[in-house]
Formats: sequence, structure tokens, C-alpha cells
Amino acid sequence: MKGLIAAGGDGTRLAELTRVTNKHLLPVGRWPMVFYPLQLLQRVGVREVLIVTGQQHAGQFIDLLGNGRVVSRSGDELLFDLDLSYKVQVEAGGIAQVVGMARDFTGGDQLVVCLGDNIFEQAQTDAVRAWDGGAMVFVKEVPDPENFGVIAYDGGGNVTDIVEKAGVVDTRYDAPPSSDAVVGLYCYPPDVFEIIEGLAPSRRGELEITDVNRVYAQRGDLQVHRVEGWWHDGGKHWADLAEVGRLIEDTGANK
Ligand code: G1P
Repeated sequence: MKGLIAAGGDGTRLAELTRVTNKHLLPVGRWPMVFYPLQLLQRVGVREVLIVTGQQHAGQFIDLLGNGRVVSRSGDELLFDLDLSYKVQVEAGGIAQVVGMARDFTGGDQLVVCLGDNIFEQAQTDAVRAWDGGAMVFVKEVPDPENFGVIAYDGGGNVTDIVEKAGVVDTRYDAPPSSDAVVGLYCYPPDVFEIIEGLAPSRRGELEITDVNRVYAQRGDLQVHRVEGWWHDGGKHWADLAEVGRLIEDTGANK
């Protein structure tokens, strides 16, 4: 099992904060944001991790993370001990494009993908360790499902579709079919790369991870798990950075 962190993009939703710095390097509590998904990958049992980021910031990621063995500045705590590789995404083209860049790195293994701005109270270790084939995604009920990929269910609670930002990116729907957002933690079998090869760009010009997940759902090969504990997408608004930082101090993260 290998790991991938998607840490590219322009971070435009964070406005003045990301003129120079990459979103995933901004502080959330006591750590730079990207430390949290890295720690999550380590907790679920991954050691080899690929970080994909934009050309402008790749050097800063290497300065921060080096080879992946990161000791606290006080020198008394090993924050994580990963085997890191890096790849540069020259032009932002969507999460599925980033996953596609991990093909050679993954080398026929299973792949756990975490978005570099997604922070979890619980590392979801039991679910990932129990995963045995097919693809697996995690959902959380949100008050603003129009801002996410969401699941559509039939009356019996079976997954019928996955919809990216209903009415904006996916215009087959005017409104989100449920409030269950698909969060930024995805587990894929090796055939994910063939699915990505067949994708076309969405209305926002990106290769959508939601389109990948829909293929698995249509094949009946998608496991949907509810997130344990709280979850935040730290890339949505500047005010969230401080709020999530406080939450982490109160409850801890990646437990
Ligand atoms: C992305 C995905 C979306 C998912 C979200 C989770 O959205 O496209 O399906 O629900 O991450 O954080 P984006 O951050 O690109 O708006």
C-alpha cells in the first residue's frame, strides 16, 4: 500500500494568504497543514508517500519535509518517519490528474490518497486496514453540500451516483442529491489509472476525482464509509485555519 498527498493548486479561496505560500504550508494549530495528512498516512500503515505539488512551491516542500523523516525542532519527538518522493504538477488539472501522476510510483500496489488540506480527528485506521479490494471513500454530512462531491442514494440507501458541486460542475443536478460529502481520503486498487486515462475534463476544466469514484460506484465496487470524528477541508476559507487549529488543540487529530 502506497500513499499520495495532493498538495498543488493556487489556493485562491484563501485570498491574501496564498499570494506567496502554498495553502498546504499555512499554519493550522501548531503544525503546517500538510503535516496532518502525512501523519494520517503513517497511522493507516503507509510508508512510501508521493507528494504532488506545483512548480512554484516544490522547493519549500522539500525544505520542510526532506526525505520524510521529520523530527520536532526541540529534537525530542519523531513527528513522522515516511519515505517521501516528490513530483511537480506544472499546471493544475484536478485531483484525478494528480492521482494519475502516481502511476509509476504506485507500481501495481494499492494507493491511499489524501488531499493535503483535509484534516481528520480520527485517522480512520480501522476502515483503511480492513479495506480489501474495490475502491473506498469516506463521507461526512455537511451543511453546504453544494461545495463538495456528494453521494446520491436510492430509497434503500444504495449508492446510485456521485455528483461534483451540483449545479456548478455537474449540471445534471440543480441541487445536491444528499448532504453526504465525499471527503478527501480515497483508497484505490491498481486499475484506478486505467479509469483516469479514460476521463474527460469537467465544466471547470479539471479531471474530477468524483468521476473516478462514479465508475467504481456503477460497477458496484465502491465502499462508502462514514468518517469517524470531525473532518475539515482546511482550504475553503481563511477563518477555518484558526478555528481548526483550536479544535485540534482541544481534541487532537489523527487519533
Ligand atoms: C475536492 C473534491 C470534492 C471533495 C472535496 C473534499 O473539492 O473535488 O469532491 O468533496 O475536495 O475536500 P475541491 O477542494 O476541489 O473544491
